Amino acid sequence: MRVLGIETTCDETAAAVIERRADGSGRILSNIVHSQIADHAPYGGVVPEIAARAHIDLLDGIIRRAMADADTKFADLSAVAAAAGPGLIGGVIVGLTTAKAIAMVHNTPLIAVNHLEAHALTPRLTDALSFPYCLFLASGGHTQIVAVLGVGDYVRLGTTVDDAMGEAFDKVAKMLSLPYPGGPQVERAAMDGDAKRFAFPRPMLGRPDANFSLSGLKTAVRNEAGRIAPLQPQDVSDLCAGFQAAVLDATADRLSVGLRLFHERFGEPQALVAAGGVASNKAIRGALLEVAAKAGTILIMPPPELCTDNGAMIAWAGAERMALGLTDTMEAAPRARWLLDASATAPAGYGKTRAAY
Ligand code: KG4
Ligand code: ZN
Repeated sequence: MRVLGIETTCDETAAAVIERRADGSGRILSNIVHSQIADHAPYGGVVPEIAARAHIDLLDGIIRRAMADADTKFADLSAVAAAAGPGLIGGVIVGLTTAKAIAMVHNTPLIAVNHLEAHALTPRLTDALSFPYCLFLASGGHTQIVAVLGVGDYVRLGTTVDDAMGEAFDKVAKMLSLPYPGGPQVERAAMDGDAKRFAFPRPMLGRPDANFSLSGLKTAVRNEAGRIAPLQPQDVSDLCAGFQAAVLDATADRLSVGLRLFHERFGEPQALVAAGGVASNKAIRGALLEVAAKAGTILIMPPPELCTDNGAMIAWAGAERMALGLTDTMEAAPRARWLLDASATAPAGYGKTRAAY
């Protein structure tokens, strides 16, 4: 089957066409991603209204390119899939409404995809991974450890009780006057820094659950930066190195607990899978390799362009659902929040209203 996938939940406007064969293997025929980073950079973060308007302006052209690159006509599609959430609601409405229009005009099945499910199923497209496996998703909006047991069958093992990991990187960058998006900037600055100069906390270390907390660490960085201001370049590097080292230790600890919980409940995972922008951090990737090896499993990281938001993952998740007959109607609603694990409750210590906990 051939599926068009549309992604508009945050600041990437993306469309892709993928093919899924009867044996369950897949192939990307086209994958067009337009990042709106330049539109949001002056504000130091994603501005929802600007993102929604940019999606409206860009999406038709991006879909046209994705269809042309895949040499595919609307009539050839088996289904059209759109990320229906969780995410910034203005953008989600643009993508889902466009998918509905295509589905209606061409009489094609519609699939409303959970954006998190799309991240979760990507390694089945890239690495033909079989269930069950353990997913670590760390992006600007999410930080979760999820047991992926089957299509539509997810159990959340851990989540952040406050900031997402990428969000913490972005906020630390902002307070140190580094440009947006901050993750790669912090990583670069940390390379020249002394990670031991500041004694930052390792949040949640040793706790029996697999949850994360990042806002206290972020505040500790802010306090130290305030104490030694004005900051010299070496100070910025040392603060970044200290922050990143604390994130690494916390990640390694939380994930080893997550993998232990996985093992107790579901047996041997086929792999530890890392996805989301933060997983492109080389130091974090090193820590993940170590955690996986210690737990006796392998680390799978889809290539960076499929780890960050894209249309191919939405199309693939759509195809996986389509193969099970899971299509949606025109009533499918855009959702700002949409838990992957519907039975998951807010973790202890969870304070704020978030897109997904
Ligand atoms: O998955 P992604 O591209 O978009 C979503 O948030 O959905 O993730 C972007 C996030 C940003 O917060 C960015 O600062 C962070 O991932 N990030 C990094 C690195 N590259 C991107 N964080 C730490 N180190 C990096 N090298
Ligand atoms: Zn994402």
